[in-house]
Amino acid sequence: MARILITSAIPYINGIKHLGNLVGSQLPADLYARYARGRGHEVMFICATDEHGTPAELAAAKADQPVENFCAEMHKVQADIAQGFRLSFDHFGRSSSGRNRDFTQHFAGKLADNGFIEEVSEKQVFSITDNRYLPDRYIEGTCPNCGYDKARGDQCENCTKQLDPTDLLNPRSAISGSTELEVRKTKHLYLKQRSLREDLQRWIDSKQDWPILTTSIAKKWLNDGDGLQDRGITRDLHWGVPVKHGTKDWPGMEGKVFYVWFDAPIEYIGATAEWADAQGLDDSAWQRWWRTDMGADDVRYVQFMGKDNVPFHTLSFPATIMGSREPWKLVDFIKSFNYLNYDGGQFSTSQGRGVFMDQALSILPADYWRWWLLSHAPENADSEFTWENFQSSVNKDLADVLGNLVSRVTKFCASKFGDSLPEGGEMDSTDQALIADLEKRLSAYEAAMDAIDIRKASAELRAIWVAGNEYLQGAAPWSVIKTNPTRAAAIIRLAMNLIRIYAILSLPFLPDASAHMMASIKSEDWAWPTDIKSAVQTLKEGHKFEVPEILFRKITDEERSDWKVRFSGVRS
Ligand code: 2FM
Ligand code: ZN
Repeated sequence: MARILITSAIPYINGIKHLGNLVGSQLPADLYARYARGRGHEVMFICATDEHGTPAELAAAKADQPVENFCAEMHKVQADIAQGFRLSFDHFGRSSSGRNRDFTQHFAGKLADNGFIEEVSEKQVFSITDNRYLPDRYIEGTCPNCGYDKARGDQCENCTKQLDPTDLLNPRSAISGSTELEVRKTKHLYLKQRSLREDLQRWIDSKQDWPILTTSIAKKWLNDGDGLQDRGITRDLHWGVPVKHGTKDWPGMEGKVFYVWFDAPIEYIGATAEWADAQGLDDSAWQRWWRTDMGADDVRYVQFMGKDNVPFHTLSFPATIMGSREPWKLVDFIKSFNYLNYDGGQFSTSQGRGVFMDQALSILPADYWRWWLLSHAPENADSEFTWENFQSSVNKDLADVLGNLVSRVTKFCASKFGDSLPEGGEMDSTDQALIADLEKRLSAYEAAMDAIDIRKASAELRAIWVAGNEYLQGAAPWSVIKTNPTRAAAIIRLAMNLIRIYAILSLPFLPDASAHMMASIKSEDWAWPTDIKSAVQTLKEGHKFEVPEILFRKITDEERSDWKVRFSGVRS
């Protein structure tokens, strides 16, 4: 049994995420967490809301609410939606927590003590029309690297380059659109990432097994002449973690806060401490996940995120950890994702384009979405959501293959043998062949899940369902029963055991359907079916069951076209 720490990129507080965000971090992280638990590992699965920064401030102002209240409300909204998608976080924290404030100030103090912080007198963009300093992402302009004309001051969404606002060509205020901008002088703290370049290089070079998407982005910014720049980690804002040197004031930094991207990843640690607090546990409970001097060197730490987050997790956050010169746990594996597109265009939060998490749940239960999204995860390239593809996957994979098997087996058993499993003869060669086939397929499924190769894992799981259908089709208990009822009973008893095996194996993808399958065969034995031969004989004759409600309904052509129209516009 291993200990596995899993974090999902923490979603910004200001608004509900779309399905592209979901499949890029929280959902695959949940898949892996559920799988790891299923295999008997000890798991700590952490997520949180990313609450600081100007987007939160502005969204609160727009909602006419104090930012603290706005964040508290939106956290609850996001937590409920996460629950709706069955995301099984051990803790869903808040980056505005006291824990995160303390860790953030602690790291800044250590970085300064170790010579990795520089005080820089900086030019900052002030918008005369808006009467405020404009934080990075509220300045828009043309990317100096790729020429994209809607690049933000912190990063170009198109080429992922981390930017400083003054790098932008033709800058304008994203709040008012005004180009009446003025550069003023103010003092800020910089993290000297360049001094940690060699440490970072060595560390990334040692990660031979990381997805190419992750290492290619990391190496691009590390090796590209001006890639790894020292980064400003403070801002002239009210809402955020106040700048302090550990617990002490930081002269000259009064009234400033840390940059949201400095405190956000630290919240992975913060949220684990919040978890310990919520459980009434002491510090050693979170330290054994995070401090290598407190047992965390046994932990495997896996992060999930979209590709735009990769530079912050391969360079900036590790620089924070390394520069502290304290024994904090560094990530062992970063699973990153390309983008999911929506029906011929992009999902867009700012433009309200696509299907958002709350809308998705309002039309179909979580499992339908989980299956489609995970089996089409944008792992090696961007992928695209279309309503046609969604309908066909759900109808074929879930309704025709898995749902149909469960329904046929339980109905046939109930009609011929009553409400419990029949007595039956020995296994024959068809059964042996199925067992051999499932053993092979189970290993392939486990290998794909261990490697977090999500599309492959979903294909293997589907193949396992198909094998059950084919077995049933070939063994044909409905014909055999006429001449050999004992053999028919053996077939159906084995098939009922398949339902239990399928519930266990499918749980990471389909938590609700798996629970229903398990309830229908009245079992609570979720032990991973390592030994297929014994797993197909777990439920014995006389074991009670009931025919479940239909597991998955089909999406009709009419629904498909209605939804296509309903979600074609923009959400206000
Ligand atoms: O891209 C985002 O949604 C960011 N809020 C992710 C932050 S992840 C981490 F740093 F905490
Ligand atoms: Zn660019």
